[in-house]
Amino acid sequence: MLNAHLVPPSKWVARSQGSIICLVCGIAGYVGERNAVDVVFDELVKLEYRGYDSAGVAFIEGTGIKVLKKAGRLSELGKLLGETSPTSRSAIAHSRWATHGGPTDVNAHPHLDASGNLSLIHNGIIENYLDLKDGLLQRGHKFLSQTDTEVAAHLIGEEYEKGGTLEEALIRAAKQLRGAYSLVLLSAIEPEKIVAYRKTSPLVVGIGKGENLLASDVPALLPYTREVLVLEDDTMVVLTKDSVRYLSGDGRELPVRPIYIEWDVARAERGGYEHFMRKEIHEQPDVVRQCLAGRIDESGQVRLSGVFSDNVWNEIDRVNIIACGTAYHAGLLGKHLFEKLLRLPTDVYFSSEFRYGDPVLSPKSLAIFVSQSGETADTLAALKLCKARRIRTLGIVNVVGSSIARECDRTLLTQAGPEISVASTKAYTAQVILLTLLALHIAQVQEAPGLRIADWTEELLALPNLIQEALAHEDQVIQVAELIKDMPLCFFLGRGPDASVAYEGALKMKELSYIPTEESPAGEMKHGPLALVQSGVVAVFGATEMATLDKVVSNMKEIQAREGTVVAITSDETGTVRKAADHTITMMPSRLEFLNSVLSIIPMQMLSYHVARLLGRDIDHPRNLAKSVTVE
Ligand code: M6R
Repeated sequence: MLNAHLVPPSKWVARSQGSIICLVCGIAGYVGERNAVDVVFDELVKLEYRGYDSAGVAFIEGTGIKVLKKAGRLSELGKLLGETSPTSRSAIAHSRWATHGGPTDVNAHPHLDASGNLSLIHNGIIENYLDLKDGLLQRGHKFLSQTDTEVAAHLIGEEYEKGGTLEEALIRAAKQLRGAYSLVLLSAIEPEKIVAYRKTSPLVVGIGKGENLLASDVPALLPYTREVLVLEDDTMVVLTKDSVRYLSGDGRELPVRPIYIEWDVARAERGGYEHFMRKEIHEQPDVVRQCLAGRIDESGQVRLSGVFSDNVWNEIDRVNIIACGTAYHAGLLGKHLFEKLLRLPTDVYFSSEFRYGDPVLSPKSLAIFVSQSGETADTLAALKLCKARRIRTLGIVNVVGSSIARECDRTLLTQAGPEISVASTKAYTAQVILLTLLALHIAQVQEAPGLRIADWTEELLALPNLIQEALAHEDQVIQVAELIKDMPLCFFLGRGPDASVAYEGALKMKELSYIPTEESPAGEMKHGPLALVQSGVVAVFGATEMATLDKVVSNMKEIQAREGTVVAITSDETGTVRKAADHTITMMPSRLEFLNSVLSIIPMQMLSYHVARLLGRDIDHPRNLAKSVTVE
């Protein structure tokens, strides 16, 4: 075996912006002596824990390519395969989490090119697919699905027809594609090879003897091999049964340096992390990239497809954001944006209060429903109430095809990928980013005075790197966690957007560690909660808003004067906060203050995670809680 060592998760993540983190869709590929169709189906089964809405397989049949695909569970695809029991020495397969186009048989992968000789599976998003599709339509191409993947298949097919090998065609086509994606191809012309390209979306190769495999995530490979090549960004592989060629994005040969995976399957499913929650926290740079993908054009303008037409945005006189738990907290940040950027009056409601509260609703208002699962019973009931009152509804949802996604007039998908840990982390960040994009979209339509959209989008695009930097403070966070783990009470405080984030920080702490928390705007402390402060109490402050920094520092002093300990999470580089607090975590700042508040949730998520870990809590399944609350 080569390179018999275990790479710690942090190194894997740091190496190429989340190299083994798999956000969406399952990818499988096999070439070798076994029945490839069985192997790739088995690989998909191993990836099933991540969630999907349809699945499909492409394999060689005679001199052509055969595709079988089906919406729904893998067992549906299994039934199709069972009818003919196909065999092939090479195959690719995919389980899809829909982004472009609903979860239907036709939209499922693989997709074929115009000749029908080339099949493609794909993870991620091709941002410029509509422009490419226009060009292909003009050149006579016809499309069966609504997917960006089919557009890419036709484009690669066109390049392939110009001559050369499949990998050469892929290199030429990839130069025309914008976005974050991975692509895997099987061709009837070169049936004994699989070619794949990685641009941000993860891909791993399993190196066997007389066989080679491909997957989006390590667990799929483990029954066959533990020798794994993790593709770097902008690289490709050409697999035959006896060889693995590793190439740069422009076709230069690269050394194949596999690593040896020692994890058991359960750990591999968590990308090598101890818990899904930690994996999901570390996925957030990629989650933000994925959420932004295709939604900001080259001139820095926001392009949200599938929302209301411009005249509707000009008519709306009020926004109500309705949600539960973490999603409600994302809504609180939405209120700041809508009111500050658009001067649009906005209320945020708990769904459970809204549904029984007989709310006063303007006929020109918009109701926004924020939900990771799209199935939360109270939020769904609130949505039904709005529909009965004929109020316009918009969903911000992670799970495509979920009840809320289906029932809202319009739905925007957060594209955060499946969130498995009960405690929500990456979904929150994606919800906030999508609310930001929505506010910017409306601002563009309304030509909001004094707002430079391109400044905002530039900073949004820079956010993944700032999140990565914030994640690098984990050692400091662990020191603070050691302090908090024995405390009887933990405050979460801030002002403005920092107060909204404090609510979410506190929810994470209580649900994971079971340590009681008090959360409030810092200015409210002296109106009551201050009575709880004494020696042994910790207050975590979000301190990113410069306009109120002096006030926040005064609030810190109030805590310390009563022998409480102050932990500050800040982007203040002047040293003011560091001098005032007992412990400080300083994050690299965005030029947009609002995004600094968003960033401050990253240390708070890590803090609650590590406190819970030190206390030996059941991190992915906190007591008394469920991931999706589908009953009242
Ligand atoms: O699926 P939803 O976003 O509608 O769920 C709402 C809440 O139940 C959820 O955000 C909950 O508060 C989190 N899992 C807590 O971490």
